[in-house]
Amino acid sequence: MTSARGKTEARVALYPGSFDPVTNGHLDIIERARSLADQLIVAVLVNDEKEPLFTARRRIAMLERLFAGCPDVEVRRFRGLLVDFARETGARMIVRGLRAVSDFEYEFQMALMNRRLAPEIETVFLMASEEYSYVSSRVVKEVARLGGDISGLVPELARKELERAIRRQSRR
Ligand code: PNS
Repeated sequence: MTSARGKTEARVALYPGSFDPVTNGHLDIIERARSLADQLIVAVLVNDEKEPLFTARRRIAMLERLFAGCPDVEVRRFRGLLVDFARETGARMIVRGLRAVSDFEYEFQMALMNRRLAPEIETVFLMASEEYSYVSSRVVKEVARLGGDISGLVPELARKELERAIRRQSRR
C-alpha cells in the first residue's frame, strides 16, 4: 500500500484467537491470510478466565514451531482489547475465519464492535476450506478426551501435546 507521503507501507494483518490448540482449520486460514498481507501476526489471547487447556506459552510454542522459517508470520500474545493490540502492531486488518453460518452472528457482533472502537481497522472474513468446516479446538479437545482419533484435524505436534495434556489431566 502507498501512503500519503508516497512511501510503500507493509500490509500488516492480525489473525487473533485462542488457539487452544491450533487446528488444521486455523492453519488453512493462516495460509489464505498470508497471501493477502506482507506480514501476518498470529495473536494468541491470554484468556485467564476461559481456563484454556494449554497455557499461552504452550499455545504460542506450538504455533512458533509450525511457522519457524516463515519470516512473514509472527506469533505474539495479547491481553485486553484486540483493537489496542492491533494499533500497537500497526495492523490495519483483522482476519477471522468463517466455517459456517452459525459462526456469523458472533463474528459479526465482534467485527462491528471492533469497528466502533477502531474505525480505521477492517475485519476481513476468510472462508475455511469445507474440509475443516466442522473442526474447532473445542470439538477436537472433546473427541481427544473421549479417546477418538483426531489425526488429520490438528497438526501432529498438537495431537501429541493434546494426548499428553489429557493423560496428565486424567491422572489428577
Ligand atoms: O479463537 P477465539 O476464542 O474465537 O478468539 C476470540 C478472540 C480472541 C478473537 C476474541 O475473544 C477477542 O478479540 N478478545 C479480546 C477482547 C476484545 O477485544 N473484545 C472486544 C471485541 S468483542
